[in-house]
Amino acid sequence: MQPVIEIERLSMEYVTGFWRNKRVRSLEDVSLEVYPGEVFGFLGHNGAGKTTTLKILMRIVYPTGGRARILGCSLDDIAMRRRIGYLPETPYFYDYLTGYELLDYFGRLCGLDATQRAQRIRDMLALVGMQHAAHRPLRKYSKGMLQRIGIAQAILHDPEVVFLDEPMTGLDPIGRREVRDIIAGLRDRGKTVFFSTHILSDVEALCDRVAILKQGRRVAYGTLAELQAGRSATLELVATETTPETIQALEKHAARVRKTAAGVHCELKSAEDVGEAIAELRRHGGRLVSVTPVRSALEEFFVRDGSAGEIA
Ligand SMILES: Nc1ncnc2c1ncn2[C@@H]1O[C@H](COP(=O)(O)OP(=O)(O)OP(=O)(O)O)[C@@H](O)[C@H]1O
Ligand SMILES: [Mg+2]
Repeated sequence: MQPVIEIERLSMEYVTGFWRNKRVRSLEDVSLEVYPGEVFGFLGHNGAGKTTTLKILMRIVYPTGGRARILGCSLDDIAMRRRIGYLPETPYFYDYLTGYELLDYFGRLCGLDATQRAQRIRDMLALVGMQHAAHRPLRKYSKGMLQRIGIAQAILHDPEVVFLDEPMTGLDPIGRREVRDIIAGLRDRGKTVFFSTHILSDVEALCDRVAILKQGRRVAYGTLAELQAGRSATLELVATETTPETIQALEKHAARVRKTAAGVHCELKSAEDVGEAIAELRRHGGRLVSVTPVRSALEEFFVRDGSAGEIA
């Protein structure tokens, strides 16, 4: 299958400093491919190089090495640009325009006629839940409202591929959920979505495949299942009414045991350990209060092994 996004050994060095004599390496030999209909998660801590990669794909900055193609076309291809949408990390819109006017402006840029624009703008405002504020100037919008209008702008012209740089930033829990639903809706309509984030739960909820960047290098690449293979979630068991013997027995199975006012908290590494810990409670006394996952398998990977080298 022909990839929708092809990135091949992309490297980027920014030239900085007053005398333009310093170089900051922000990407090193990054390669990846995204296929039609995928929701691809581009993960990395602050400063990992996510925005830089997206800016290169959008032709906002030029790479110092490597190449990339979108929809089989060169990044300079203007016709290809009509088929893609982009939400920048910190959208800077003309803030004297209203939300409606901004979308109308972008609709014109994309070549939509007046009837198409009216229809699409209405649909997009409804999709991102912004009908109520459509006629307010953007300078009166909150961060979350701007983010929603930014997303509407990115998908206004019904693009085949959508690039979103941290789309959930600035949104409250309900807003995050809605953006997740929008992304899932795009996938259901056969679109390809490439989004950057440092929030693992968003990736786990949405993505087919991911790449993890660390200090400009790709440290992991593959399906979520591949990345999580051999790693399990960390679970926390809480018990009360424990005896000193119970705690001693629990310590055999737990990575960590600590006491709080709520009870004894045990950090357990697998479902088997949970079974053993519950058996110890029965044997030595104690009441089980809860068992909850505290870190997912992907988080385990991201936190501990994210720098352990290429896994795919
Ligand atoms: N215009 C620039 N000039 C100099 N260095 C830059 C510039 N833009 C980015 N960098 C550097 O490149 C590296 C990668 O930055 P980038 O913004 O791509 O990271 P990111 O993964 O998007 O991070 P975040 O999660 O904070 O948005 C950082 O070390 C950053 O300081
Ligand atoms: Mg960024």
